[in-house]
Amino acid sequence: MTRTAIVTGAARGIGAATAKRLASDGHAVAVLDLDEASCADTVAAIEDAGGRAIAVGADVADAAAVQSAVDRIAAELGAPTILVNNAGIIRDNLLFKMTEDDWDAVLTVHLRGAFLMCRAVQKHQVDAGWGRVVNLSSTSALGNRGQANYAAAKAGMQGFTKTLALELGRYGVTANAIAPGFIVTDMTRATAERIGVGFDDFVAHAAKEIPVGRAGEPDDIAAAASFFCSEEAGFISGQVLYVAGGPRA
Ligand code: NAI
Repeated sequence: MTRTAIVTGAARGIGAATAKRLASDGHAVAVLDLDEASCADTVAAIEDAGGRAIAVGADVADAAAVQSAVDRIAAELGAPTILVNNAGIIRDNLLFKMTEDDWDAVLTVHLRGAFLMCRAVQKHQVDAGWGRVVNLSSTSALGNRGQANYAAAKAGMQGFTKTLALELGRYGVTANAIAPGFIVTDMTRATAERIGVGFDDFVAHAAKEIPVGRAGEPDDIAAAASFFCSEEAGFISGQVLYVAGGPRA
């Protein structure tokens, strides 16, 4: 069945791959990111493949922007019942060097952003008696040096997801989290730059530690998101799926 999906942070990386995958699954997709123009490539890829998509510019941490984005999506694509909260940022630093801004920015985009998006979308899900929420956590939720802010946010995403599952289950809405390990995107590229390592070396080093012997690709996460959003996953809710090429971070 065709639904309307929103994928946040879908201009690039994991979000772009997930938007394309949900479109190929037959859904109309709102490609949402900070800057509407940055969504053009993802939208074009979906349309070239015969799918339906619109570009939406919004800061997920801005309540008014989120509400008007969701209103516009409902009007142009149909009531959104699938939501993938993927938008994210990193501001890595060891605790003693971490600023309040580093802390607030990361908690705000991931947690406040996912909260605002879910709050705006749940009305459409409840009205439809059906919905899917997928939240992006991370293996960093288990703790990661230099990421006190990000680890707290990504652990928070897991508690948030479980609570959504409890509150919205009776309306036919499931909520699950995906916790990726190392995925090749601009985010991991930025980490390599920050620590002064070439990206190819950084990826090769990461792959050595991963049981399946390779780094993850955005499509690896898109596949898991597609499954959670499917009709047949309706009895799976409140779960955290580590997609990391092995059992540990
Ligand atoms: P990325 O940096 O390539 O893409 C993130 C996208 O989110 C960008 O297009 C950015 O503009 C958008 N964004 C940032 N702040 C936003 C805001 N306030 N409102 C709307 N859009 C905003 O990142 P990547 O690697 O694709 O990550 C996607 C998600 O997966 C993030 O939540 C990240 O924390 C998570 N993740 C990534 C991993 C990796 O290894 N790349 C591992 C584990 C989790």
